[in-house]
Amino acid sequence: MQALDAKDLGRALCIITGASRGFGRTTAIQISELVKPKSVLVLAARNVEDLRMLQADLAASKAGKAGVVFEYVVADLGVKEGVECVVKAIKLKSSEDFDHLILVNNAGSLGALRYARTFTDMSEVDSYMSFNLSSPICLTACVLEAFPRREGLRRTVVNVSSLCGLEPFLSWGLYCSGKAARDMMFRVLAKEDPDIRVLSYSPGPLDTGMQEEARTLTADNSLRNTFTDMFTKGQLLTCEASCAKLMMLLLKDEYTSGAHIDFYEI
Ligand SMILES: NC(=O)c1ccc[n+]([C@@H]2O[C@H](COP(=O)([O-])OP(=O)(O)OC[C@H]3O[C@@H](n4cnc5c(N)ncnc54)[C@H](OP(=O)(O)O)[C@@H]3O)[C@@H](O)[C@H]2O)c1
Repeated sequence: MQALDAKDLGRALCIITGASRGFGRTTAIQISELVKPKSVLVLAARNVEDLRMLQADLAASKAGKAGVVFEYVVADLGVKEGVECVVKAIKLKSSEDFDHLILVNNAGSLGALRYARTFTDMSEVDSYMSFNLSSPICLTACVLEAFPRREGLRRTVVNVSSLCGLEPFLSWGLYCSGKAARDMMFRVLAKEDPDIRVLSYSPGPLDTGMQEEARTLTADNSLRNTFTDMFTKGQLLTCEASCAKLMMLLLKDEYTSGAHIDFYEI
């Protein structure tokens, strides 16, 4: 492995899912500022307009002017074809053009925020897990297969996780179990392949669309009130502040591979 330069993330190929808004969008912006010219960022999500706007903003930024390239892939990661679209875009790249592969599995959804006893319909659960669990597992495997171990290539996989992967939240059974299962899959990956750097980052409560859903749709009254309180008391984090800690972790590269690290721990 080459010596690590804590000032940048190298000449990188970065794939960021859920890049159209929220934490994924901020991650794309902050990573773009840390990679070397001729790095390529592949931004995936469903909303083409949001992706186009982000691409234009990034192309006009300092990073864009310095030669970082921004591409987007419109893909619904809840279905196999969506994952295949992203993989197809990645396979057009040559490993030799990069010294760092970074995959940020950020896309996610809350799903239905009902009590566990109400999930009688298997297709509802399957559909949730297909997007939130199967897609990051398969995308990660396909990306690693397309960019196998090579001298001079660092490979980093980020799993955007949550406290909900560790703690049970009432009426959040789908989300909690999806995040817990994701964490475990990435822990297994870290153990199986010590040359891959694997990080499950829990970004803390962010002021995004997902939080708005949480405070309006959570079935459990007490938990819903907690989210409303956090919002009204200004306790939500900005994506920028949380993402800055993720960038610091990636730059320092000192975390134990497979670890779950929370915003508040650092
Ligand atoms: N917000 C929080 O408080 C919080 C706390 C802890 C962890 N997290 C985690 O942080 C990550 C980002 O959350 P966020 O708050 O930024 O959420 P968000 O604002 O709801 O954004 C979700 C992103 O995922 C994309 N997405 C949703 N469904 C998709 C699909 N079927 N296929 C492809 N992309 C899809 C969305 O883009 P399109 O709609 O364009 O597809 C969007 O870019 C998630 O993994 C979340 O679980 C969030």
